[in-house]
Amino acid sequence: MFSKYEKLINEADDLSLLEQIRVEIFGKKGILAKEFAKMKDIPENERKAFAKSLNIQKATLAKLFEEKKATLEAQETKKRMREESIDVTLFNGRSTSGALHPINDTLSRIIDYFVSMNFAIEEGPFVEDDFHNFEALNLPDYHPARDMQDTFFFADNYLLRTHTSPVQIRTMQRSRPPIRIISPGSVFRRDFDLTHTPMFHQVEGLVVEEEGRVSFSNLKFILEDFLKYMFGDVEVRFRPSFFPFTEPSTEVDISCIFCQGEGCRVCSHTGWLEVLGAGMVDSNVFKAVGYENVSGYAFGLGVERFAMLIHKIPDLRSMFEGDLRLLEQFR
Ligand code: DAH
Repeated sequence: MFSKYEKLINEADDLSLLEQIRVEIFGKKGILAKEFAKMKDIPENERKAFAKSLNIQKATLAKLFEEKKATLEAQETKKRMREESIDVTLFNGRSTSGALHPINDTLSRIIDYFVSMNFAIEEGPFVEDDFHNFEALNLPDYHPARDMQDTFFFADNYLLRTHTSPVQIRTMQRSRPPIRIISPGSVFRRDFDLTHTPMFHQVEGLVVEEEGRVSFSNLKFILEDFLKYMFGDVEVRFRPSFFPFTEPSTEVDISCIFCQGEGCRVCSHTGWLEVLGAGMVDSNVFKAVGYENVSGYAFGLGVERFAMLIHKIPDLRSMFEGDLRLLEQFR
């Protein structure tokens, strides 16, 4: 009697069609409801048999329906999975290129300059000993200049290097003049505010030759040339200063790139920005590595400071947050 509906179910090939068929068969106004409604007109003695037969057919249809539904659902899921699966190896034509982090970008420019000037690159360990980080750099135990650097100490004279200057010592210990190196890398200090982070990057420079072959003029030339390479057409000024590892020592300023020397908030209204420290290597440093009859110059700079000035970044901490909204601006 219901073979037409069995056929309909069997032939249904998607879930929404099957749902329509369900309403037609099992719905309130569906075919089954209509058949059951006929019961009242059936003679009492046949009614039981009629109901039984109808219930059996209803059960058959219901089973058929459930099986079909399960099959179609499984097919649908499979299809969806096929359609929605992502081939991560597939080029979608929309990907954007990344960019160097401003610190790495600045560091590569610094390295490019010095490599073009024939400097080699040396690296040293982050965990240093007291001798290389302080003692050999003419910073003996009692020296007040040790307070300038808030050191992270370990036990037994070990510490996180507070500057890249210890690489000077390591390089001089393992080689002989002429030496012409820069040493880029991370350094660590207990400091955290708008312009300080506990880890930052420095580039150290060291040139050592036979006595009399390098002078302060060589140092002055290379730093002036370097700063113009980095900052464009700026004025460069050398101020007398003090570092334990150099004598004489100098701090080097450029004319403020924000106000062209007029005076503004960034340069504290001085018209100048301090960008690096330098000097002629102190004879005590040469003594510590057993060098005689040599002369040399050294310099040191903070990469983050350069990056902040070049890219006009006001808060140093933002450099280490990995926020794409900042980083995407450097593409
Ligand atoms: N080591 C110094 C610092 O961390 C930077 C520095 C200054 C390095 C003068 C030098 C130098 O080689 O000559 O503050």
